[in-house]
Amino acid sequence: MKTTRVLLTAFIFGLLAAGARAQNQPQPPNYCKSCHSEQEVQFRDSVHREELSCVSCHGGDASTPDLPQAHSKGFRGKITRAQVPAFCASCHADREQMRPYGLSTDQYALYQTSGHGRKFAAGDPRVAICTDCHQTHRILPRDNPQSPIHRQNIAATCGHCHADAERMRPYGLSAGVVADYEAGVHAQAKREGSAAHLPSCADCHGSHGAAPPGVGDVSKVCMHCHRQTREFFHQSPHFKTLAAQGFGECAACHSNHRILKPGPQLWASTCGTCHEPGSPAAGTAEKIQGLLGQAQADIDMAKETISQARQVPLAVEDYEQRLATASTYLMEAGPLSHTLDASAVEDLTRKSRSVAQELEVEIHEKMEVFEGRRLVVGAVWLYLLITVGALQYFKRRSR
Ligand code: HEC
Ligand code: HEC
Ligand code: HEC
Ligand code: HEC
Ligand code: HEC
Ligand code: HEC
Ligand code: HEC
Ligand code: HEC
Ligand code: HEC
Repeated sequence: MKTTRVLLTAFIFGLLAAGARAQNQPQPPNYCKSCHSEQEVQFRDSVHREELSCVSCHGGDASTPDLPQAHSKGFRGKITRAQVPAFCASCHADREQMRPYGLSTDQYALYQTSGHGRKFAAGDPRVAICTDCHQTHRILPRDNPQSPIHRQNIAATCGHCHADAERMRPYGLSAGVVADYEAGVHAQAKREGSAAHLPSCADCHGSHGAAPPGVGDVSKVCMHCHRQTREFFHQSPHFKTLAAQGFGECAACHSNHRILKPGPQLWASTCGTCHEPGSPAAGTAEKIQGLLGQAQADIDMAKETISQARQVPLAVEDYEQRLATASTYLMEAGPLSHTLDASAVEDLTRKSRSVAQELEVEIHEKMEVFEGRRLVVGAVWLYLLITVGALQYFKRRSR
């Protein structure tokens, strides 16, 4: 009995030990970590942790705790700021090395064409290099919310330099671009949780290059997402003249970064910056603004009437659908107004207004009928009450 228990215990211990051995597979020791714990901790989360080790980038001998020996064997020490882009590119621009990971190899080539890369090549270390946007030992993939290149964090990553007035002054660049961007429609929609694809700094400027592939000129980048508006703009007399005078296509009226919610105030504030009051162009501005304004007013009124009808209560589903149609016409008129063709805009606003006005009239008629019925019903009730009262009276008197 005693011997079986001893044997069993020994067996179990044997199993446990075997398991432990299997878990601690002979890993090559890394003594770099023991002296450089700060980098080691950062490196645990890095995209490089599986494929690279300290030695891949710094050289040296990781198998010894002895300092002189550790810092030998091709040890290259710290990689200086001036070396970083070419150093990262030694792997990332190498097709053979990147193929297994399906990573593109154009970052360095694009970087060299960018404003940053050109200044860097000319010996200016203050422009952005790979590690300013990606960090060094803790490089996180872009879908990690903590990553500096995560969509939500890009403005802050660029803002680290571009919102810093001291840093921007020598270059004559505004340090207000980030605040302007944050005040604009795109950042606002992003804050409100819109699921649409909204541009961050890197969508318009490119991550590595001066402009995204296929777009020579960053001011044309709006059309990637606002294609229809661009097509209408293409038909306008502004298309050629604004370009000839060196204005960005869309920025002439919307600005580059502080792109505000469009509406009546935009007409009032932008056209006047180039056109004298009383000029034909100012006349066109007034006309189109008026057309859009009237249609909006009719839609607002119909909306109000529908909400009154709902309280009556009347069935309003059909009215709501028709109101949506009226709004759609008006929404189409916004982009179309970029042609500056007032009569084309009027075609749409007329349709929008006639739907809204029809609704208005119909609902009022229905409410009147309803009111009329209510009066009749009230009168019948009154008549009945009086009759019953009179009957009771006569009954009592006849007793
Ligand atoms: C016994 C501790 C120890 C070990 C092991 C060790 N280092 Fe160091 N390392 C140091 C100290 C101390 C310094 C700072 C003194 C200096 O600049 O030489 C340093 C500096 C560095 C620097 C910065 C050099 C510079 O020019 O600023 C790098 C990079 C570095 N070590 C990488 C490594 C790597 C990679 C390994 C493993 C192959 C490693 N170290 C192993 C102690 C160690
Ligand atoms: C992908 C390449 C890469 C890997 C992998 C890497 N480093 Fe570095 N390391 C760099 C670069 C680039 C710099 C210098 C740039 C900087 O300071 O941002 C640097 C700087 C350092 C320095 C100098 C101090 C400092 O932070 O500026 C130390 C020490 C260091 N690394 C240790 C390590 C250790 C330890 C590991 C492994 C845990 C490691 N590195 C892994 C690229 C790498
Ligand atoms: C020794 C070769 C090597 C060097 C040097 C190197 N990398 Fe990498 N890098 C890789 C490999 C391999 C991967 C793919 C890792 C994986 O998918 O497991 C990678 C992945 C990445 C990724 C993630 C890409 C993605 O979206 O999946 C980024 C970002 C990156 N590296 C940036 C850098 C930066 C910045 C530097 C310079 C500080 C650098 N790398 C230096 C080999 C290298
Ligand atoms: C000005 C900031 C900035 C600089 C400088 C920068 N990057 Fe990037 N990088 C980004 C952003 C932003 C992304 C994410 C791109 C995206 O979401 O399309 C990215 C993505 C990457 C990726 C992943 C690409 C892929 O195909 O998935 C790699 C690899 C990379 N960068 C390497 C580098 C290297 C190497 C350098 C230096 C030569 C560098 N980056 C310089 C901002 C930068
Ligand atoms: C480490 C600081 C730093 C970071 C981070 C940085 N920049 Fe820059 N950037 C500069 C400096 C300095 C200049 C001025 C260089 C010049 O005059 O061309 C510049 C110039 C620019 C320019 C104008 C030059 C040109 O011709 O393209 C643009 C656009 C720009 N940066 C966009 C960005 C974007 C977008 C990001 C983030 C994805 C970013 N920068 C991140 C420092 C930085
Ligand atoms: C919707 C597109 C768009 C977004 C988003 C955007 N930019 Fe720009 N940016 C432009 C355009 C267009 C220009 C004008 C370029 C030209 O004239 O060639 C410009 C110009 C610049 C310039 C140089 C001239 C200046 O105005 O000082 C810098 C620097 C810059 N942007 C940085 C940023 C940063 C940082 C962000 C993010 C916070 C950002 N941009 C977001 C479109 C954009
Ligand atoms: C990556 C795609 C993308 C790019 C590039 C882009 N936009 Fe937008 N933009 C959007 C989306 C999506 C919305 C809708 C936001 C919302 O939910 O209100 C929007 C909204 C707008 C609005 C407000 C529309 C409204 O009715 O409220 C204006 C004005 C605008 N963008 C102008 C521009 C200009 C000018 C540029 C270029 C400098 C530009 N956009 C570049 C995607 C983009
Ligand atoms: C950045 C300057 C600028 C802004 C802002 C601007 N325009 Fe123009 N506009 C021009 C130039 C330049 C011409 C061509 C010169 C000319 O024929 O007078 C022009 C021509 C026109 C024309 C056709 C020619 C004419 O004079 O009848 C109309 C219509 C017009 N603009 C309307 C507008 C409206 C509406 C707005 C506001 C939404 C506006 N413009 C904003 C610069 C501008
Ligand atoms: C001449 C000035 C001017 C120019 C140039 C201009 N816009 Fe507009 N944009 C306006 C005005 C004014 C409105 C407001 C229309 C309204 O009241 O509905 C507007 C509205 C918009 C809207 C919201 C309504 C819609 O069209 O969906 C977007 C998006 C827009 N513009 C994008 C652009 C883009 C992209 C470009 C360049 C291709 C551009 N704009 C060029 C003046 C301009």
